[in-house]
Amino acid sequence: MTVTAPEQETRQATPCAFVIFGVAGDLARRKLLPSLYELWVEGRLHEETAIVGVARRDYDDAKFRQEVAAALEEFHVPGCTQTAEWRSFQRTLHFAGFDLEDTDGYRRLYQRLSELSDDTRVERQAVFYLSVPPEVFPDVVDHLDEAGLTRRHATKDGTWPRIVVEKPFGRDLVSSRSLNDRLLASFDEECIYRIDHYLGKETVQNLLVFRFGNTIFESIWHRGSVDHVQITVAETLGVENRGRTYEQMGALRDILQNHIMQLIATVAMEPPSAFDGRHVRNERIKVIEALRPITEAEVAGDFVRAQYIENVVDGEPVKGYRQEENVAPNSATETFVAGKFHVDTWRWSGVPFYIRTGKRLASRVTEVSIHFNEPPMQLFRGLDDTPPRNVLAMRIQPDEGISLSIDAKRPGVTMALDSVQMDFSYAESFGGGSLADAYEALLLDVIHGDPMLFARSDMHDAAWVALTPVLDAWQDPTLGMLDYYPAGTWGPRAADELMKRDGRAWRAL
Ligand SMILES: NC(=O)c1ccc[n+]([C@@H]2O[C@H](COP(=O)([O-])OP(=O)(O)OC[C@H]3O[C@@H](n4cnc5c(N)ncnc54)[C@H](OP(=O)(O)O)[C@@H]3O)[C@@H](O)[C@H]2O)c1
Repeated sequence: MTVTAPEQETRQATPCAFVIFGVAGDLARRKLLPSLYELWVEGRLHEETAIVGVARRDYDDAKFRQEVAAALEEFHVPGCTQTAEWRSFQRTLHFAGFDLEDTDGYRRLYQRLSELSDDTRVERQAVFYLSVPPEVFPDVVDHLDEAGLTRRHATKDGTWPRIVVEKPFGRDLVSSRSLNDRLLASFDEECIYRIDHYLGKETVQNLLVFRFGNTIFESIWHRGSVDHVQITVAETLGVENRGRTYEQMGALRDILQNHIMQLIATVAMEPPSAFDGRHVRNERIKVIEALRPITEAEVAGDFVRAQYIENVVDGEPVKGYRQEENVAPNSATETFVAGKFHVDTWRWSGVPFYIRTGKRLASRVTEVSIHFNEPPMQLFRGLDDTPPRNVLAMRIQPDEGISLSIDAKRPGVTMALDSVQMDFSYAESFGGGSLADAYEALLLDVIHGDPMLFARSDMHDAAWVALTPVLDAWQDPTLGMLDYYPAGTWGPRAADELMKRDGRAWRAL
């Protein structure tokens, strides 16, 4: 997270070569290229920046620029390539066509980097973005090594070159550790950016400001005032064209291991002693390390795994997961998971953290809500339909914002209570323009060398340690029994029962 005074807002980054492996893929076209373009338009990239796309295509630079223009027209702002900004941006774009298994391709890339600019920093200050399938991450690092593009190419201060690694980061503890070892053999930890785009989202960053930039929340942010915490990451889409990849993953690996763990860490962390990458990340990791080990019995009672089945949603028939393209007709992959965690720290002892995530749910929403205790004495008992409980909800997407539910007297001559909302909306408070994409903030952080919003190796380790008992238990056909929910609903009944057993309910979203 780049902290800037308003007058420094447009401070320029250092020149670098931003190499995108998998530049023809979905992520690069939808997010990475539009984000780099927007950073360029805002004047945040150095004018000597070189963006090098790598893909298995026989393109020259001119053809590559046409493809980038098409991606920007489709996924960024229509018409944006008819501008002077595009004409200057396109000069930063270069193409290197080779298969990721082709050793010679990396040698040619080495050569290409040295020819891109008279500014020698462009060659030496390279960012390698792995926007490619996770299976090939280690191979790409091997080849970068062989071609002399990693440690042997490092700057004296050890801060370049940098590598950005997409999720998923391993599929279990063993594979995650093995990937970490491979990366650390070629890059210093400070040069490895394990990206989780949730951490670049405004509301997630604002959670830090909200908690540590204000005085009023800290005094209630603990077990004495908080009854429980809920985290929901709900999607209305199914697996779309990602069936093959999703079959290997499921909801736990796709969302819980990374995004939800980061959200738990951000909500529950202690105040860092300084606002920098080391201190903030130290505090985040302590939370995940403090997650109470889950026993087999708890997996059976406190975790639900389920899969969507066909339904009619808004009058349209919607396929079940097993009918999706590239999904096995008897697939046992979960598209929904709900569960309960405990953060065993002084602050959070006894406060459950309930999480749920799924595809094909009733609405698209990501939200963290803090549910405060009921008042110690029910003075207004009988005047309200539901017992009063304050809820602070932080909406991460869409409609980013924060709202506080409080009880108020309904106008009129009789005494009756109603729940009302105090709302802060990003769009309304900050000019209504669209918010910067999370990737924009994160790509700039990589170029500035600021790792605060990226996962350190011990974070992934801790998250996998916490989830290994669940994955292990799910190997057992009884403990890992799959439940089902109709597409377009809020998941299986078992998820509601999980809450009900604790005398609570999911927030209606
Ligand atoms: N898409 C998202 O929204 C999203 C979100 C979070 C994380 N991620 C992660 O980001 C990474 C990329 O995802 P994606 O959705 O962009 O995948 P994708 O659409 O399948 O694109 C992957 C790219 O990798 C290239 N590639 C694969 N094997 C290659 C090889 N041997 N040599 C050269 N290029 C090769 C493909 O090239 P060809 O075009 O030549 O086949 C393709 O351009 C994955 O790790 C994914 O898990 C994606």
